[in-house]
Amino acid sequence: MKRIVILISGRGSNMETLLTAKLPCQIAAVISNRADAEGLRIASEHGVATAVVAHKDFADRESFDAALAKTIDVYHPDVVVLAGFMRILTAGFVNRYHGRLINIHPSLLPSYPGVHTHARVLEDGVKIHGCTVHFVTPDLDHGPIIIQAAIPVLQDDTEKTLADRLLYQEHRIYPQAVRWLCQDQIELGQDGKVRYRFPKQAGYALISPGLE
Ligand code: GAR
Repeated sequence: MKRIVILISGRGSNMETLLTAKLPCQIAAVISNRADAEGLRIASEHGVATAVVAHKDFADRESFDAALAKTIDVYHPDVVVLAGFMRILTAGFVNRYHGRLINIHPSLLPSYPGVHTHARVLEDGVKIHGCTVHFVTPDLDHGPIIIQAAIPVLQDDTEKTLADRLLYQEHRIYPQAVRWLCQDQIELGQDGKVRYRFPKQAGYALISPGLE
């Protein structure tokens, strides 16, 4: 059974979804860069080992990432899952976990990389928003895409309503992506593309606003 380490920075709702999803893997540890991350308490309640590597204690990204990798490797993970981990990682760190480091991002990448995605979507008047699970590469928020979910942006949406509706979809697609990885149903190919070992599924269109 594959071993997973989850990295968080805060609330940890995606992490909690992974802990409760009955995934075919062992969640070996949850690690945070902030000692006050709410998700650490939740992980402990689920009986999962926790650790803190505080970025504030390090002079630069390289030394923080080296300490983080050392802590991660104590748990010998097959897969490292970023779940609301809000630090930019160095290329050295990312390459160390090539093909086994994944992230969830609250936008339909490659649109809206970075922060404040919901506010930027509302500002631009975009009609379809979404979330993306992707392999992490040194190119921030541009790694090979594993799965995405799209939602309509409604006329009276605020940042909060949009974030809440999108989070619900994040909680659906992240366990799916981790399950595929744990069951060796997906992998990052040599060509930098995601390879799926299951038949292609039919999709359907999301039109927003809906047709009359
Ligand atoms: C989630 O919306 C996740 O997509 C986002 O942070 C939130 C964490 O919530 N991640 C990023 O913005 C990464 N760039 P959670 O701690 O409740 O899972």
